[in-house]
Amino acid sequence: MLKDKQMPANPVVAVAGATGAVGAEFLKVLHDVDFPASEVRALASARSAGKELDFEGCGQVPAGKLIVQEMTPESFEGVDIALFSAGAGVSKAMRDAVVAAGAVMIDNSSAFRMDPDVPLVVPEVNPQDVAWHNGVIANPNCSTIQMVVALKPLYDLARIKRVVVSTYQAASGAGAPAMAELYDQTRAFLDGTPEGELEVNAFQHRIAFNCIPHIDVPMDDGSTKEEWKMVVETKKIMGDDDLAVSATCVRVPVLRCHGESINVEFAGEVTVEQARAALEAAAGVQVMDDLAACAYPMPGILAGTDGVFIGRLRRDESVEHGLAFWDVADQIRKGAALNAVQIAQLLIS
Ligand SMILES: NC(=O)c1ccc[n+]([C@@H]2O[C@H](COP(=O)([O-])OP(=O)(O)OC[C@H]3O[C@@H](n4cnc5c(N)ncnc54)[C@H](OP(=O)(O)O)[C@@H]3O)[C@@H](O)[C@H]2O)c1
Repeated sequence: MLKDKQMPANPVVAVAGATGAVGAEFLKVLHDVDFPASEVRALASARSAGKELDFEGCGQVPAGKLIVQEMTPESFEGVDIALFSAGAGVSKAMRDAVVAAGAVMIDNSSAFRMDPDVPLVVPEVNPQDVAWHNGVIANPNCSTIQMVVALKPLYDLARIKRVVVSTYQAASGAGAPAMAELYDQTRAFLDGTPEGELEVNAFQHRIAFNCIPHIDVPMDDGSTKEEWKMVVETKKIMGDDDLAVSATCVRVPVLRCHGESINVEFAGEVTVEQARAALEAAAGVQVMDDLAACAYPMPGILAGTDGVFIGRLRRDESVEHGLAFWDVADQIRKGAALNAVQIAQLLIS
């Protein structure tokens, strides 16, 4: 029934988790793409109810203040699109209310990504999967999104047999409080605060001047859940269960933008020149690759951008048909808010 619902040209949009790192970016992206909303509702926990958020306006909604409302099951009455970034528990708790209200939930959490009846969508890769949703569309993990945007044009040249990826993930990937912890800890560390007195809440260890090879919970096989997500989500989005993926995910003391070192093994010959041309022509990809001129993507220069930036393209001589490269994307924009808003645009197109 819901699949047949016609999405209005000017939908009512709820931003669930509007006070968080991704929620704040949702509001910016809705403005940046001038999303044709007739209303934007800002929802968060009871802690934030009544708080005013600056909104630059989009569609029929003028610039001004949005008053944050406490999220309850009733919040979704009259809503057409609910952009969720309030954690998996909240998404699970609110799913039935959102669907009963006739809205489509576009969810940034890991709650439903691997459910067989929930499409997992990156618009540059598998936009067609939006068509079979049953009220929920999942946004993939941020590290997965930026990797598959780069893999898709390469896969179209020759089937990819295996991917080995190591991530360098920004502190803000763990939310606004984690970004604040990196700032505060760095300052305290430089002020000479003894190790045992540094505040450590967002991560397993101090993140200032450190790298932590542990993101999300441990899995039984010795990997972490973040690594598992990159493996299973990549297969689902690319529609290839035989695509082998090996991931190592590391948190680094970067504020914003994830980096990834990626090695690809193709089933057939693909030259570096062919790969470069395919990436240059691909939607959502920007090639920034001139080693001699010290030009390559870096988190320090790419915060706030929309693309997946690729550099350090070269042959991987360790396998017969290998390619190595490095990618960087702003994980709060393309890895979360922008990707979800692009899905919303597919729903109204
Ligand atoms: N940060 C990223 O780069 C990133 C990327 C991709 C996906 N995600 C996913 O997006 C989600 C949010 O991440 P974030 O980084 O934006 O986290 P965050 O900065 O900690 O923000 C969390 C948001 O959820 C709200 N919230 C928490 N508990 C709630 C409850 N019981 N009821 C209603 N609202 C509640 C918070 O409201 P209050 O302010 O009122 O507490 C806040 O608006 C997570 O599932 C995360 O895995 C994050």
